[in-house]
Amino acid sequence: MLHKWVLMLMTVLSSRKERGCRLNTKIDFREPQPVFIHHGTLLEPTDAAGNIFMAQGDSITISCDHFITHPHTINLRTIATVTCEAGDTFRNDAWLSTPGQFSLFRCSSPPNHMSQRTNRTCYDGNVIYEVGYKVQNNFYPLYESCFNERELYPLYSKYSQKPYNYNFQTRVKRPIFKDDGVYSREFDVPVDWLLSPKEQRRRVSELVGPAVDRYIVPGLQELSRGHLAAKTDFVFAFGERATFHYVNCAPQWTGFNAGNWNTLEVDIRRHIHESNYSTIIYTGTFGVSQLLSDAGDLVYLYLYKDSNNNPVIPVPLYFYKVVYEPKLKKGIAFVGINNPYLTIGEARKLFFCQDLCHGSYNVSWLSWHPDSSREGYTFCCTVEDFRKTVPYLPPFKVTGLLL
Ligand SMILES: *[C@@H]1O[C@H](CO)[C@@H](O)[C@H](O)[C@H]1NC(C)=O
Ligand SMILES: *[C@@H]1O[C@H](CO)[C@@H](O)[C@H](O)[C@H]1NC(C)=O
Ligand SMILES: *[C@@H]1O[C@H](CO)[C@@H](O)[C@H](O)[C@H]1NC(C)=O
Repeated sequence: MLHKWVLMLMTVLSSRKERGCRLNTKIDFREPQPVFIHHGTLLEPTDAAGNIFMAQGDSITISCDHFITHPHTINLRTIATVTCEAGDTFRNDAWLSTPGQFSLFRCSSPPNHMSQRTNRTCYDGNVIYEVGYKVQNNFYPLYESCFNERELYPLYSKYSQKPYNYNFQTRVKRPIFKDDGVYSREFDVPVDWLLSPKEQRRRVSELVGPAVDRYIVPGLQELSRGHLAAKTDFVFAFGERATFHYVNCAPQWTGFNAGNWNTLEVDIRRHIHESNYSTIIYTGTFGVSQLLSDAGDLVYLYLYKDSNNNPVIPVPLYFYKVVYEPKLKKGIAFVGINNPYLTIGEARKLFFCQDLCHGSYNVSWLSWHPDSSREGYTFCCTVEDFRKTVPYLPPFKVTGLLL
């Protein structure tokens, strides 16, 4: 009898202790999703399963460009702060008739992400852009891009990947890419139009002649808008949408984009989740792809010439991801070749470091097909070895291979 009472008391005490709120990335969020600010930064899950735990009385700010919608609102607001009541119920007595379910907070339209040119520079005097959201005159960045404003291409995007990123929100609609005038700071370069199917074909045919028909094959191999930071590298819909920015994009062959590059993105995300790594990722481009023209010349692929007749918007030769775990001081570099028209022999000559991934049990979690021309030839190496060829990354201390 006494035992029973003790058990009951313990149950009551523990449920008291658990009083507070729990939201989950997969359950408690609807579209169009607002931007959420928590403790002065963009909302982040608390654990690897995508849960957000909040104490009773803790608050969260909800921001939309137009109106926040919820069945309990008694006036229209574009920004509001709500306080955790319990479970998934939040209150704001001046704005909601009664406390409301968190998942019902939505925007009348998706909030607009934006880029901000900073006064910080990266490799060789290139400029760092931050991409994120402006809320009440504060800018909240999601990632940053080291961008070459002369040749108009991103050297890399830098962002974090943690175990919770595995639990990213799905079914988030793809917005169109925007450039916020970044490609028109000096000359008007219509990046979006240049990447359209018709225009990219015209540009490539100007360089290679009728051979363009062998290279650009609709539905099979074309130049896609290749994300550096992937849409699904962000856990919330507002973050996923913010990847659709041309400072985070470079022309990438569709076979590679949907093939080994996509496999790498998926595998890294799962591996970080399973290994409980907390990483910084640099995803970038290097070099310029070449194709053989009808005249028999190897020509560099650029999609445009600026008003000074300088080529801009290169089709990169390499896409890479350098994954770094600052606490462990370990890192690894994955590289893929963005040219489906090379033989394996030609591709191997472009491998610029000792390949640690090919046929190796070191990276058994990686399921890419490194010898596929269609999916993109791939290799991996130590960060130190990688830096000997690609000098772009800022310094950070690496003492071992992140496996
Ligand atoms: C750079 O920008 C930051 C934030 O916008 C500002 O606080 C700082 O004074 C600027 N630094 C220089 C050297 O302009
Ligand atoms: C994962 O790592 C974090 C620190 O980065 C640590 O607090 C947490 O306990 C770890 N989780 C597991 C399951 O090991
Ligand atoms: C596995 O990684 C180690 C470094 O940790 C390296 O010395 C070794 O060559 C790699 N194995 C293969 C088969 O690449």
